[in-house]
Amino acid sequence: MLLHGLYFSLLFFLTASTHLWLFCSLVLIGSVASDNVNNSTNARQKRLFSIFNVVTFKNDPCTTTGTGNLGGTCMTSSECASKSGSASGNCAAGFGVCCLFIVSEECGSTITINQNCTYIRNNGNPTPDMTAGQTCTFDFKRICDNLCQIRLDFRTLSTLVSATGTCGTAEDAVTVSSPFSSSANAFPPTVCGSLTGQHMYFETGTSGDSAGTLSIAKGTGAGSRTFDIKATYYTCDNLAKAPPGCTQYFTGQSGSFQSYNHAGGQLLTDQLYKNCFRQELGFCRLSLTESATQTPDPFLLSAPDAIAESTCDPLSHITVMTPTAAMACGGVLGKDGDTGPATVTTTSGSFEVGVRSLTAGTAGITGFNLDFEQVACA
Ligand SMILES: *[C@@H]1O[C@H](CO)[C@@H](O)[C@H](O)[C@H]1NC(C)=O
Ligand SMILES: *[C@@H]1O[C@H](CO)[C@@H](O)[C@H](O)[C@H]1NC(C)=O
Ligand SMILES: *[C@@H]1O[C@H](CO)[C@@H](O)[C@H](O)[C@H]1NC(C)=O
Repeated sequence: MLLHGLYFSLLFFLTASTHLWLFCSLVLIGSVASDNVNNSTNARQKRLFSIFNVVTFKNDPCTTTGTGNLGGTCMTSSECASKSGSASGNCAAGFGVCCLFIVSEECGSTITINQNCTYIRNNGNPTPDMTAGQTCTFDFKRICDNLCQIRLDFRTLSTLVSATGTCGTAEDAVTVSSPFSSSANAFPPTVCGSLTGQHMYFETGTSGDSAGTLSIAKGTGAGSRTFDIKATYYTCDNLAKAPPGCTQYFTGQSGSFQSYNHAGGQLLTDQLYKNCFRQELGFCRLSLTESATQTPDPFLLSAPDAIAESTCDPLSHITVMTPTAAMACGGVLGKDGDTGPATVTTTSGSFEVGVRSLTAGTAGITGFNLDFEQVACA
């Protein structure tokens, strides 16, 4: 601004005598202002701006340049260092560094998370953690106002689970809690086993120093545990936020989703949560089909048979609103009475699949692995 002002007063001084001068100088100013940001102009812009030292930029998400191109936050290099992050690549046209946050301390005392996009890893990761009987607690600080949700992406999560799908005691337990307590359904269930690639949202509520905690309790059983979890904070106005009370949230016209620990081949006990799907423009219903991948069994919730919908309620089941039924259970996903797998389509506007499993599990009950596809409005 100052530079341009200077230019203009200089120009006015000169314009009295020559119009050509004005024309040429304006072109010059124009080219400074509209230069595309590339390698050569970067350096020039830096020199220009450094005279006044007034560079500001938002702490936007950025992509780091190291292995895996993890997500980082754009900040000045001194800010990144003071927050114990590591700089990995540049952002903000070279004025900032892409700052990466990883915590991987030994478990014991509570570990504070106070940066968006923090990667939470077991001590020694990628080498598994062999220490049993220890709880790792991560406290998510309320890093900003208007916070609504935190999303945990299980990039890698491999922990111990019992043969019948129970978490805790000898096995491990991954549990989230938060100050938000208006609905039991708003909390994700306790999970364990093989959860790589799965995710979980939880509500943070809007007040209190802590926005929630994640505890990874390593049971007394010997074994190896590995985790690498990305934590993303969402403010209430973020469009990527899930609807309230949705533990899993899927966007896009089609995809697949699994019960927790389906990769481990065992439905977890005591689950009560919702999978939600963002209704895409022009789509009105959701169709669900068993995955073509047959191992582990893509639909086995309570017994290896087709079961009448009317008997599902007291059994482990999924809730899915269709014109003829509201639940599905047993060993086949299909319409009521189907003896083999068949596509199930929800009623108009229903984009949710609930999950309910019993507190007592049965070994060999795999849970589900379903493909979803949104159906265009008629
Ligand atoms: C920078 O951009 C200018 C014009 O936009 C172009 O002529 C030049 O080749 C670019 N330089 C590099 C290194 O990309
Ligand atoms: C220019 O930028 C590209 C990526 O944007 C990078 O790969 C390349 O090394 C840069 N070249 C110079 C001369 O800085
Ligand atoms: C956290 O990062 C994500 C992108 O990874 C971004 O969408 C979100 O707005 C950020 N949250 C906050 C609170 O800045």
